[in-house]
Amino acid sequence: MRKPVMAGNWKMNCDNDEAKALADGVTARGGQVEDALVILCPPATALTSVFSSIANSNVKLGGQNMYWEEDGAFTGELSAMMLLSCGCEHVIVGHSERRGRFGTMDEADADDLAAVFGDTDATVNRKAKAALAAGLKPIICCGELLGERKGGKTDEVVASQVRAALAGISADETANIIVAYEPVWAIGTGEVCDADEADRVCGMVRATVAEVYSQDVADAMRILYGGSMKPDNVEGLMAKPNIDGGLVGGAALKADSFGALIDAAAASAG
Ligand code: PGA
Repeated sequence: MRKPVMAGNWKMNCDNDEAKALADGVTARGGQVEDALVILCPPATALTSVFSSIANSNVKLGGQNMYWEEDGAFTGELSAMMLLSCGCEHVIVGHSERRGRFGTMDEADADDLAAVFGDTDATVNRKAKAALAAGLKPIICCGELLGERKGGKTDEVVASQVRAALAGISADETANIIVAYEPVWAIGTGEVCDADEADRVCGMVRATVAEVYSQDVADAMRILYGGSMKPDNVEGLMAKPNIDGGLVGGAALKADSFGALIDAAAASAG
């Protein structure tokens, strides 16, 4: 009922030639898959070259971040319209790294980097609303730090990020939203979240969406897992009822490993 998603977040990797080669490899490997929605999110500098690589495939393009204003004096920022004009249909919003929350860092370090990268629950909400208004589909990220998990605050932190991100967004608009649950301590660390626990938290996110809107909205919403997803753990994750796909960093940087993840997502559709 919910078409699985496999989204590759290339982060700050790949110059234009490397991005083109990787996109060509992914397109050759899994570009015609119909049972899964495949999204590539290269760095902004490579959006145009990746878009030309995926032109004759089912692969879709996404940005990694955006600013909510339409245009103006905002040096270094990108608007939703700019992403759309490069061929994007999707945009990642509120990735933990944009919130200044990395790997296994503690809460004090996260506060320092929040000032550098800047996303807060409020700005994530503004970005999600601006994306939807422009016709871009946001992939809204949420997830707890290791210390928050150890302190028993996972559900509280994640539910409050989800509620804040969805504030003021109508039920009709939710059809264009994907949520990604990404425990920060599992991102780029090689330490994947146990599949049962990832499913439990994704289920809690779904229940939160049901409280904000309705059970129907929650049942239709795609909720992804992200954090060290790889070919050797993807099947266990994709088998879970509340996990509808993956948001993938490291394993998305090789066409073979990302291709295996696409295969697993497509296989879970049946
Ligand atoms: P990872 O990153 O797969 O390298 O852990 C996931 C993400 O940040 O989206």
